[in-house]
Amino acid sequence: MSATTEILHLRVDTLDAHPATTPIYQCSAFTADSPYFYSRKSNPNVSEFEQVVATLECARHAVAYASGMSAIHMTLEQLQPGDTLVINRDIYGCSYKLFERTARRLGLTLQILDLSTPAGIRQIPSDTDMIVFETPTNPFLKTIDIAAISRHVKSTNPQAIVVVDNTWASSAFQHPLAHGADISLHSATKYFSGHSDVMGGIALTDSDELHARLVDGRFYAGTILTPQHAWLLRRSMQTFDIRMKQHSATTRSMTDFVGDLPYVKRVYYPSIDAAQLTGYGGIIFLELRDDLVDAYPDFVRALRWFDTGTGMACVTSMVAQPYSGSHASMTDAEKSEMGISRGLVRLCFGLEDPEDLRQDLLQAFHRVAGRRDVSSAIAVS
Ligand SMILES: Cc1ncc(COP(=O)(O)O)c(C=O)c1O
Repeated sequence: MSATTEILHLRVDTLDAHPATTPIYQCSAFTADSPYFYSRKSNPNVSEFEQVVATLECARHAVAYASGMSAIHMTLEQLQPGDTLVINRDIYGCSYKLFERTARRLGLTLQILDLSTPAGIRQIPSDTDMIVFETPTNPFLKTIDIAAISRHVKSTNPQAIVVVDNTWASSAFQHPLAHGADISLHSATKYFSGHSDVMGGIALTDSDELHARLVDGRFYAGTILTPQHAWLLRRSMQTFDIRMKQHSATTRSMTDFVGDLPYVKRVYYPSIDAAQLTGYGGIIFLELRDDLVDAYPDFVRALRWFDTGTGMACVTSMVAQPYSGSHASMTDAEKSEMGISRGLVRLCFGLEDPEDLRQDLLQAFHRVAGRRDVSSAIAVS
């Protein structure tokens, strides 16, 4: 036997290794007697991450994907040509574009409603096949009553699929399946990762049938999470609970502080009813005072502890302008229909000392508002 042949087949016996954490199963294929078959179908790291999130959100099944967008895309695969899709008006810009594109491609009837109001719920068509919304919404953090929507939709079509994008509430504070949703999905890139270093998505369901269809779709589309990303996400989940508590406490105090500043017209924070939403994490919106809107780039440059870019829900604080960021893929008319102006700013509070964040915001506002004395700003507030 040549060394070449021997090296090609050499494997260390790991049966007695007993690692303290699950290693990364960096393999595309498993041997014929493995239940995992092929990493496009399933993989131990992916399964472990799925089980962690399913346990956290009290779901029967979880299906993990390469990104939040692929979780949404694969959920839309449940629709047939000619079906009726209803979405909420306030929604993440790329999701909105995906719904529009899918509706055009499949000849769906796409109805865009304000589901945060009873009047909007009454407008839901009786032949709705799927309804998708975020609660709290991105932007504006409005609450949508999952149970009311589910009751309404299923009274006329029991087969309709109610889908909640639970990214912003997170499994820490909201369990959509318990309120009548059929699928709860997440961009795992956000709070689950928490460190801006990995992309992922996940869909949860209690339905065996939906689960089988989602797993099947993922296998043929090849949209599964990679083992490395699953491993990173699983590791991040070890600190999820403690991170969410800290995001929550910091954000509650920062919201009051920001709302009192004379540079801010309005702050958006969701309503926590303790039934559907039992708490809230780290993302708020504010409307800049009219004379400061053009100074937004200077304001961002003046900040020291808030990073810029599309990341959020992570250990570092972030600042972003939905108009040019999360909703940039929408036309000006669509943005204006949603109420997204250039003065709308998204702040995500990380795990820094809240006092440092307060001082940072104050000095940046002070700089762009042309004030000399930070303490006078404190006095005004
Ligand atoms: C609410 C919501 N859903 C889905 C997504 C898409 O997730 P991903 O960026 O992981 O594809 C995002 C991204 O920001 C989001 O905010």
